[in-house]
Amino acid sequence: MQTKILSTSEYDIALAGKILSEGGLVAFPTETVYGLGANALDETAVKNIYRAKGRPSDNPLIVHIAKKEDIVPLVKEVTPDAQALIDEFFPAPLTVILPKSERIGSVVSGGLDTVAVRMPENETARRLIKAAGCPIAAPSANTSGLPSPTKAKYVIDDMSGKIDAIIDGGDCKFGVESTVITLATDIPTILRPGAVTKEMIEAVIGPVQVAPAVLEGMKNDEVAASPGMKYKHYAPKARVIIVDADKKTYEDFVNSRQDAFALCFEGDNVKIPKLTYGRENDDLSQARELFDALRRLDEMGAKKVYARIPHTTGVGMAVYNRLIRAAAFNIIDLKKPFFIGLTGQTGAGKGYVCKYLSRLGFNVLDTDKYVKKIYENNPGITSRLVCEFGNDIMVNGVLDKKALAKTAFSSKENTEKLNRIVHPEVIALCERDARPLAVLDAPQLFEAKAQDKCYKIICVTAPYDVRLKRITERDGITIEQAQARINAQLDEDYYINNSDFVVKNNGEDIEIQIDNILEEIL
Ligand code: TXA
Ligand code: MG
Repeated sequence: MQTKILSTSEYDIALAGKILSEGGLVAFPTETVYGLGANALDETAVKNIYRAKGRPSDNPLIVHIAKKEDIVPLVKEVTPDAQALIDEFFPAPLTVILPKSERIGSVVSGGLDTVAVRMPENETARRLIKAAGCPIAAPSANTSGLPSPTKAKYVIDDMSGKIDAIIDGGDCKFGVESTVITLATDIPTILRPGAVTKEMIEAVIGPVQVAPAVLEGMKNDEVAASPGMKYKHYAPKARVIIVDADKKTYEDFVNSRQDAFALCFEGDNVKIPKLTYGRENDDLSQARELFDALRRLDEMGAKKVYARIPHTTGVGMAVYNRLIRAAAFNIIDLKKPFFIGLTGQTGAGKGYVCKYLSRLGFNVLDTDKYVKKIYENNPGITSRLVCEFGNDIMVNGVLDKKALAKTAFSSKENTEKLNRIVHPEVIALCERDARPLAVLDAPQLFEAKAQDKCYKIICVTAPYDVRLKRITERDGITIEQAQARINAQLDEDYYINNSDFVVKNNGEDIEIQIDNILEEIL
């Protein structure tokens, strides 16, 4: 099929209207995104929309009208809330859902007994609907699963050869699809946020709910209030990861990554390849540019993208809702201390892994060094240790580490007492010093119960003989002493079972193993 590219001239709109009235498919601009239209009352034409988009047949379409009163024949009843919203907002980027009338077939409604109706603000869209002389069913004019098109060229990319015509009406004003609200439930519920915000709606009809799936995604056993919620959406080819952080932390984070793109705001100080989507405190600009940016990232061949998180209020809720789906709900939360825990038995080769991670730009915090510092200069901890283990651990007013070790490691009970005093202080100091992408280098990670502080845990393992040899040579101790040390630790299985990743120090290339782990973590 040869797809005609039309303008917004009288002649072209009349032609497009004729195509629609005869059962054809025409893509057209709206103030939100481009729509892919067909006569809503012609089930065969509507079926062709699903085919052109590759859209699942249970995902209903929005019916577009040119005049407010055109909703009446499409629904069972225009409820008072619906009337209030229509009077206040239509024409607008707002879709209302009501129980459907007999005129709406089951293909348009995806088998539901409700129908979604909207009167677009965009002039060209309304002229087209008038020219067609019928209500127009229209989803966004993208291939199912891809970002919605905000420019005619993206419609051409997705729909050329599959539909009769595309009207080029320039860039879309809002850039995210309409707000969808259902009035067919006891409490009006926003199923998809858009440029008509929750706050604007509540000012007209009072409190409304936001469907949980809008911000959190669907739970496995949840039934979708709107079928569109359950399908993969807005997904570019690149893997998108949202970074929840303030401006500075985000900048530091992305600037430490070499293999990725940044999707940030104008003016962000980002040194890796980047695209912007709007300005920091301007949610309308973010909405307008998001889908375009997602498509351009694909054109640029981005494989991995770190996106700066938008605010979730006002139109920001719509921006966040789209971005979180594009990211398949992947978020790195840099507002919490973001440790990668690194642990393993003594002599397994943790030190080598630490050096490699430091070289890659990670902020490696060596817990052993913190322990040493605490023993050397921390009066609060020292006095607690004296209370617990007696004055013999002090020599000339200084803590004698050998004496402390002798008492503290004399029994399991004493070791635990020591740990209870020292570990929390070590972890607190590490949290204080941690910069983004911190690695907590902690042989006693589990004993210190620091696993909850870690986003992911990596353990290093090595064969028993290797460890034995390494620590006798490194620390100048006898085989028996080395064996005693190893035996006092948790066994290897414990480390493996409680870690997310294992680095095997058994001759395999360690750097490749770590690269693969980092690829998964970040
Ligand atoms: O801004 C827009 O709304 C654009 C332009 C073209 O008007 N259209 C659009 O349509 O975004 P579409 O099909 O891509 O998204 C419609 C959403 C889907 O998530 C669908 O599941 C939901 O609305 N929907 C439609 N009818 C529904 C119904 N009866 N009950 C619940 N959800 C419905
Ligand atoms: Mg869509």
